[in-house]
Amino acid sequence: MFCITFAAKLIGKMYTIKFNFEQKGLEPVVLNNVEAGQSLLEIALTNDIELHHNCGGVCACSTCHLYVEKGADHIEELSDKEEDFIDRAVNPRLNSRLGCQCILIDESGQIEVTLPDQTQFLGE
Ligand code: FES
Repeated sequence: MFCITFAAKLIGKMYTIKFNFEQKGLEPVVLNNVEAGQSLLEIALTNDIELHHNCGGVCACSTCHLYVEKGADHIEELSDKEEDFIDRAVNPRLNSRLGCQCILIDESGQIEVTLPDQTQFLGE
């Protein structure tokens, strides 16, 4: 019984994340068993998903801008600083976030995001 409970707890900290792309020709990517505690930027980069990050992930640009379509409750809250940089992003919407600031909280669930067309950015 203990083992089953323990295993369930471990499995319970995993996310399924679907990445959609506005860039023409890219099909959605679904990642399973993604651990909490990482940012959506880190998750994208470690899975070879292109997401610009010109400031290196320190909330000082807006190139990691993305749209959270589902599962926003599983992501750390928006800070004032992040909101300021979202205002400078291309085509911000109500569900806009910065990928480097979207840390998955210690739960489990499903998240779906859409990445803007990355060909519009220069740099990393
Ligand atoms: S990488 Fe610059 S704000 Fe996220």
